[in-house]
Amino acid sequence: MNDSEKNIRNEFIQTLVQRFGKERTALLPVLQEIQKKFFYIDEHSQQEVARLLNIHPVEVNSVISFYAFLYDKPRGRNTVRVCKNIICNYHGSLEIAKALSTELGIGFNETTKDGKVTLEYANCFGMCDKSPSILVNDQIHERVNKESVLNLIRDLK
Ligand code: FES
Repeated sequence: MNDSEKNIRNEFIQTLVQRFGKERTALLPVLQEIQKKFFYIDEHSQQEVARLLNIHPVEVNSVISFYAFLYDKPRGRNTVRVCKNIICNYHGSLEIAKALSTELGIGFNETTKDGKVTLEYANCFGMCDKSPSILVNDQIHERVNKESVLNLIRDLK
């Protein structure tokens, strides 16, 4: 990461600390906002958050490790999760997974070279009666099929 990228992150983190405060309770919302903007929380940002909130960097990293939706490695701008639980599986989720993987040219737990999509499996979104389901970023799509999911990912920015 070059100095310009570090400065952009420093300025952003400072605005977050002004917004959420310097108490320990600010840690999670600050990390969530960094995740939202940069798609992961790089080491420099972790150090800067630790410095501004007066927390040890190890503690910042352990919070990131604890929460499933916070990441310390680069990810795609979009995350597509395919439910692989038994009911979605019965209704064709594995064929959908295969179609996505072929279309994107990546396997699961991988990110496209252009940084557009990270593909992951997930367990049950609680929408089993409308299976198969996929989660695209924060939005669940129910009763999908190969064609509908391919259209969905083609529309992603
Ligand atoms: S089994 Fe897929 S949403 Fe429940």
